[in-house]
Amino acid sequence: MKTVKVKFRVNNEPVTLQVKPYETLLETLRERLSLTGAKEACSLGACGACTVILNGIPVRSCLILTPEVDGMKVTTIEGLKQGEKLHPLQKAFIEKGAVQCGFCTSGMILTAKTLLDRNPKPKKDEIIRTISSNTCRCTGYKKIIEAIEIAAK
Ligand code: FES
Ligand code: FES
Repeated sequence: MKTVKVKFRVNNEPVTLQVKPYETLLETLRERLSLTGAKEACSLGACGACTVILNGIPVRSCLILTPEVDGMKVTTIEGLKQGEKLHPLQKAFIEKGAVQCGFCTSGMILTAKTLLDRNPKPKKDEIIRTISSNTCRCTGYKKIIEAIEIAAK
């Protein structure tokens, strides 16, 4: 099988890999780079469990082929800590009890981060709209929304 050379940055670290042309970014992150925060659930782009940030935009890593990210910057949940300190969104999710099984959590937090990066003080309806494409089967969303509101204060 022919492979493709791909160079990109993950959580500010340079990565160079030979990958199959059809390998997804989710597979690369989880299976080659041991970054297992992004989860595989639907594999169809529907649930958001696999969300990562690609050049500042939240994307479904199950729908992105790794050769497509050549030259780009990827941020995963593992890259959100600032030194030993958790990101305010991570702290707020823990404090608010917005994490139950945790399967949706990294996608929720990364999606919320891109919102706070472009609007540090979002209104509640904007928070709801932003995370509406991410599925949570456990929390009922209320605590997730509250956690994002706390992180925005
Ligand atoms: S696993 Fe990628 S969107 Fe559901
Ligand atoms: S905490 Fe379980 S799916 Fe959201």
